[in-house]
Amino acid sequence: MSGHGEDEYDGSFIHALELVWGEGFLSPGGEDEVAKALEAVDISGKSVLDIGSGVGGVDIALVRNHGAGSVLGIDVERTVTEHAIARAEREGLSDRISYRVIEPGPFPLEDESFDVVFSKDAMIHIPDKPALFAEVYRVLKPGGFFSGSDWMRGNEEPATPEMKRWLDVVGLTFELKSQEQYVAALKQAGFEDVSLVDRRDWIKDVLRDDYENLAKHKNEALRAGVGDDADKYVEIWHAAWETAMVDQLAPGHLRGFKPAG
Ligand SMILES: C[S@@+](CC[C@H](N)C(=O)[O-])C[C@H]1O[C@@H](n2cnc3c(N)ncnc32)[C@H](O)[C@@H]1O
Repeated sequence: MSGHGEDEYDGSFIHALELVWGEGFLSPGGEDEVAKALEAVDISGKSVLDIGSGVGGVDIALVRNHGAGSVLGIDVERTVTEHAIARAEREGLSDRISYRVIEPGPFPLEDESFDVVFSKDAMIHIPDKPALFAEVYRVLKPGGFFSGSDWMRGNEEPATPEMKRWLDVVGLTFELKSQEQYVAALKQAGFEDVSLVDRRDWIKDVLRDDYENLAKHKNEALRAGVGDDADKYVEIWHAAWETAMVDQLAPGHLRGFKPAG
């Protein structure tokens, strides 16, 4: 059960995403991207909230590679969260990683209850970015920080035909905002030292390779896993690649610090 009806990330889609982006990941770059999004900050021993935790690969990396003391993953979908819970158990990390399925909207979490808030490529689903970052700020302890990544728009121009096609074929509840709008929303919430690392050049190569893999080298594996859905996934990655190539899809890493008070 999700907060908005049917799960958007069903078994077939999860299978395709993990085939392309690696086990545990519904977003590109895997552990390396998590590491880049955490460059020059230290989360060791800290309590971390992960917004849109998906199938949990991010959370394993936060604990194993970055020494997070504890991680709470929140997500609106039950299917992905069941995968994440099973993964943490298999990895012997359920004492440090827990999950909650939540409703969209304000987080059902106490004020000032986390040292760090992380999120990888999930905030795209949350329409109101200023309200989102106000919530992130609220649940952070003074002196804490937000660090993460998301799919953003490379400009505020009307959607190009490439973008329209991608949104149409992917069929997810995306609400893309520009990099500048994200930075403004963080500042508006009260974050200081806000920074953004533009990943648009990186994603162009990633999506081209993904598309070529799905269309050729991994096509048999894809078809074996998802049957006739395979053609739809090849089209989704092609449309995403084209959208990146016209600079409308421009992911980035974001960071902001809550003053110590
Ligand atoms: C592209 S996946 C990324 C998952 C994971 N962070 C990763 O990188 O593998 C986006 C995730 O955000 C979740 N999501 C969608 N709307 C959400 C919301 N309002 N609050 C929290 N999570 C949400 C989806 O269910 C999905 O698991």
